[in-house]
Amino acid sequence: GALDKGDYDYFMLKEIHEQPKTIEETFRGRLQNNYSEIVLGGLLNVFPKLEAARRIVIIGCGTSWHAGLIAEYLFEEYAQVSVEVEYASEFRYRKPVLSSQDVVILISQSGETADTLAALELAKSKGATAIGICNVVGSSLARETEAGVYTHAGVEIGVASTKAFTAQVTVLTMIALKLAKRKGTISGEDYKMLVKELAEVPEKGRAILADGEKIKNIAEKYQKAVNALYLGRGYLFPVALEGALKLKEISYIHAEGYAAGEMKHGPIALVDNNLPVVVVAPQDDYYEKVVSNIQEVKARKGNVIAIVTEGDKGVKELVNDSIEIPKSHPAVAPLLAVIPLQLMAYHIALLKGCNVDQPRNLAKSVTVE
Ligand code: G6P
Repeated sequence: GALDKGDYDYFMLKEIHEQPKTIEETFRGRLQNNYSEIVLGGLLNVFPKLEAARRIVIIGCGTSWHAGLIAEYLFEEYAQVSVEVEYASEFRYRKPVLSSQDVVILISQSGETADTLAALELAKSKGATAIGICNVVGSSLARETEAGVYTHAGVEIGVASTKAFTAQVTVLTMIALKLAKRKGTISGEDYKMLVKELAEVPEKGRAILADGEKIKNIAEKYQKAVNALYLGRGYLFPVALEGALKLKEISYIHAEGYAAGEMKHGPIALVDNNLPVVVVAPQDDYYEKVVSNIQEVKARKGNVIAIVTEGDKGVKELVNDSIEIPKSHPAVAPLLAVIPLQLMAYHIALLKGCNVDQPRNLAKSVTVE
């Protein structure tokens, strides 16, 4: 059950391994007609508002904010709507320009984060339509939004969020594709192809997890690091942020996530032979650019750990360590690429003797400001 660890030493490891299953739970009843049509009952009343929205503002904290950043790429590319992603703690104290033509999507695993709830109140007071995406059924966020979608990841106990994140990204992908379909901003063919790609994620996730042991050896090599840098581009930039957050939360190694293209504007100054640089580098449109980032790190004696597409040769021969993930469409790649980063953080924290499930100073949900 959700409240015991089963065969696992820690809830976090259990929750990482549950992901193929929890993503399927998130699909349940929503990917219909043999996984070819998306149905989101909870949003039926607000889809007209979403279709007409002047812009969508996505709000969250921590890992939920990272899910929002991935959604920004999805909504813009497929539904052709302008999106802003905000930290709840900033949004609530700004003087945001919002009207009834805006739709606000609030993301929260717990549905109880104080800043996110305050942002919700502000958005409602400005007349915006508020949609909630949360995991805990009956939470404050679920009760106080106009409409919403539950993530159905099951109870998450590890303080560092894993399965709730992939469930959030799954829900946001479904919303973006459905909205695109309704607006006619995606071709029928692309819609079908992407829904199929999404439906194939659990199986591919299982393959990554089955090969997870190799990550332990990589963790052994880098457990003594003081700093770490994570790089990614496009859909995988937020994944780099999330990988860095996982490592810092549970292993207390200072880690920064960066858009790979920004490396030359700062982080490259940190590169030396003590710095592990994790590069998310699957074969997508950015492949060549990311390869040149890797070359720049290697030229300065940095140690590169790359997440690559199965069968990749180009990156593999440049880097110190690599972890393969199955080939997928870039729009669903975050759901796969994040898994090895979660596992790497877990194994490093474990080797350092940290309390993986309850890292110091952190709370599962921050219900006071
Ligand atoms: C805390 C947790 C994080 C979580 C964040 C937002 O910082 O430790 O894991 O991502 O709050 O929580 P929420 O419940 O709003 O998603």
